Amino acid sequence: MTFRNDFLWGGATAANQCEGAYDVDGRGLANVDLCPVGEDRLEIITGQKKMFDFDDDHFYPAKESIDMYHRYKEDIALFAEMGFKVYRFSIAWTRIFPKGDENEPNEKGLKFYEDLIDECLKYNIEPLITITHFDFPMYLVEKYGGWRNRKIVDFYKNLVTAIFERFKGKVKYYLTFNEINVILAASFMGAGLYFEEGEDVEKVRAQAIHHELLASAYATKIAKSIDPEIKIGCMLAAGTYYPASMKPEDVFAALKANRENYFFVDVQARGYYPSYKLKDYERKGIMPEITKEDKKILKENTVDFISFSYYSTRAIAADAKKFDEANLIMSVENPYLEKTEWGWQVDPLGFRTTINEIWDRYQKPLFVVENGLGAKDLPDENGYVEDDYRINYLREHIKNMKDAVELDGVDLLGYTTWGPIDLVSAGTGEMSKRYGFIYVDRDDYGNGSLKRSKKKSFDWYKKVIASNGEDLE
Ligand code: BG6
Repeated sequence: MTFRNDFLWGGATAANQCEGAYDVDGRGLANVDLCPVGEDRLEIITGQKKMFDFDDDHFYPAKESIDMYHRYKEDIALFAEMGFKVYRFSIAWTRIFPKGDENEPNEKGLKFYEDLIDECLKYNIEPLITITHFDFPMYLVEKYGGWRNRKIVDFYKNLVTAIFERFKGKVKYYLTFNEINVILAASFMGAGLYFEEGEDVEKVRAQAIHHELLASAYATKIAKSIDPEIKIGCMLAAGTYYPASMKPEDVFAALKANRENYFFVDVQARGYYPSYKLKDYERKGIMPEITKEDKKILKENTVDFISFSYYSTRAIAADAKKFDEANLIMSVENPYLEKTEWGWQVDPLGFRTTINEIWDRYQKPLFVVENGLGAKDLPDENGYVEDDYRINYLREHIKNMKDAVELDGVDLLGYTTWGPIDLVSAGTGEMSKRYGFIYVDRDDYGNGSLKRSKKKSFDWYKKVIASNGEDLE
């Protein structure tokens, strides 16, 4: 058999994209609640347009999402029926600390996640927790300016301490920040950063990134002191950059574009800033404040494993004028690849390339924590969807993941597909961009019964898991 016996098959979600109940049981307001569906979303999530409160002109999908807050038992039972070994979900920071700077956590928030974890354990499903998946307390945005402020590191330390202590002995795998590199593109959604006019965006970002990297290292330190069994992972929005041609300038542009993203993992996995980044900051005059103590913390608290999402490769030309957007990251069009309905290029072999590139670079165990196809589904009157397109996408990707393990010898811990149940899209806020094995009756503007039903891919994935990835037909 290719995959290890304890290979963790499952699915991944994020709190704000599925829980709803945004103001229930003491939960505070978060940046992600304020990202509406529609044409303003992009400017808001990137931190260029201010949306610090709800207004009547927009629809905010995270308020109710798919209401998993009240339906998680039904949903986890369906995951268990598919044979999930792992369920990756995230914690809404504002359920635990509604404002973010309190001393004591909100008991109701902790209790909710404890019940959810117990529900997983009941079915022998390993919980894999993302501590922050694009969510950040609005109070900390307004009072402290988001991750640009060093004080946030302390608030994050309080958050992780409360989490590790409460779930000790129940949860082994944690990720500190979802797609940490997305701060480069979507700074408000990714890090609670809103840019005032005239501000040096790159400088603010560099400091915010440093604070996140530091917070991530502290999380490792705190985790080990509370429960040495805990394994901490970083999480990257991965997808290697191809040069658009063999022109040396294009090849070098690809190297640079890859570094922009790997930089985060370079620090989290190796424990120090790479020379290319220090030089870049120096040249631009935007060197963040990095203390001696910070360096020590980074050095001593590297991650145990490396997780990443993969949807596509990217491509770059040194003189590119026109870019496409895929998963918030810019790319020139690759004429050799097909596109999804949302214009994301599909590249299964690029998955194997990316897995290998990360493995070669870090030599730490890997975990694929997101992969999947966002597509429009047409359900019949029972909510059944013949989603062969989704099965095909996943099959081709799993085949390449298998090759990476079998033929290249990569050490892979597990694989969680994105959105095993339909949920709100992070990029667009739409419900109609569906990834699930389970259909949810809800449209882009909140109409629908929220009823769950199985798609064709449900039984297919069940078979994949039961055969430990051997039966992909
Ligand atoms: C990743 C995120 O960027 O990709 C998820 O971690 C997101 O939150 C997923 O949902 C798919 O992107 P989208 O924009 O199709 O929802």
